[in-house]
Amino acid sequence: MTGAEAPPRRLLVRDLAQLVTPAPEGGPMRGARAGDVTLVEDAYVLCEAGRITAVGPMRELGALDGDVEELDGSGRCAVPGLVDCHTHACFVGDRVEEFALRARGATYEELHAAGGGILSTVEATRAAEETTLVEAVSRHRDAMRRHGTTTFEAKSGYGLDRETELASLRAIGAAGGVPTWLGAHAVPPEFRDADAYLDFALAEVLPDAARLAAAADVFLERNAFDATQARRYLSACRDAGLALRLHGDQFTESGAIPLAIELGARSVDHLEATGDGGIDTLVRSDVTAVLLPASALFLSRPMPRARDLLDRGAIVALATDFNPGSAYCESLPLVASLAATQLRMGLEEILCALTVNPAHVLGCADCKGRLAPGYDADVVLLGEPDWRYLAYHLAGDVVETVLLGGEPLTLG
Ligand code: NIG
Ligand code: FE
Repeated sequence: MTGAEAPPRRLLVRDLAQLVTPAPEGGPMRGARAGDVTLVEDAYVLCEAGRITAVGPMRELGALDGDVEELDGSGRCAVPGLVDCHTHACFVGDRVEEFALRARGATYEELHAAGGGILSTVEATRAAEETTLVEAVSRHRDAMRRHGTTTFEAKSGYGLDRETELASLRAIGAAGGVPTWLGAHAVPPEFRDADAYLDFALAEVLPDAARLAAAADVFLERNAFDATQARRYLSACRDAGLALRLHGDQFTESGAIPLAIELGARSVDHLEATGDGGIDTLVRSDVTAVLLPASALFLSRPMPRARDLLDRGAIVALATDFNPGSAYCESLPLVASLAATQLRMGLEEILCALTVNPAHVLGCADCKGRLAPGYDADVVLLGEPDWRYLAYHLAGDVVETVLLGGEPLTLG
């Protein structure tokens, strides 16, 4: 460092009632370690140049030389910044009319088959300028941050033409999200069938999408893409260097789990319809089960069988599925409450499923999801006396302060 450079910013969060983190070693938390968390009372966390340099009990905090800013953590609890590994945050417009129809008894699948649903959001998103997409994702990101999300994935999939898919991926990146190309979300109306659409998407969109996205995703479901089409799409994406994700077993078991294992996918997401055979297969694999209880709630669908998955050793992550149709919800603390009350997950399992395990799905578990030296200084301070209020306080305003890379965010 030359004399002219400012020293890196140091921030000490002190006198925290509690600090809780997934235990500091190892990869994704599963089996006996699915809820292995470390709790420190009367704790501090020291951040320097965007990273955590030390955590521990106050009594072990030595003298710090040089300039250190301090943040009073008394009466507050620190948890790692939450990681939302499954959102559809790049969309324009809303689906409130559809929601009103569903409230009166129409089903999501009926509305989709009638040309509403996903395709109505496609129409609105295609009509938007790229700057409008950046604004939309940024607004959604800010809402997620207010609920403690410091890392978010977002999928394209509301463009389904070359221009809007690529603009969506750029907009997600510009807003600081991890972009996933959901090129196989639905078949747009200008194509006669799914195969004809995939011919186009793989030839005309994939080469550029592969440079903008980190992963690819497919909606493997009746009335969307079948297993043969999903295999074709995902294999081409894998060959182009993308990690793989699948929307699977949301309404019907359509072969997503065996396909995910065959192709070495990072995750299968949803799993509301998964039966014994699927669970048996998934628990023996390294594919993460991403559970989306806010989506199951929003669509009045059965909850995924989290207990069977966890008890038998699966890697489990939780996410919002934030989107205008099936889960208009940005809040991971609400997902935590649903996981506790509906999925019967332990609160420690929930913390791992909102931090280190989704970071593993996104390929950033070496720097996100734990409060430990060397990790990014993404820290959530809960304005509550016990970290378990994260799930306990149903729809509560639990997040008080969010540090992103050691900088306190203005949450608005
Ligand atoms: O994960 N199921 C497919 N895709 C989304 C919903 C998208 C929408 O309804 O706009 C999901 O639930
Ligand atoms: Fe989804």
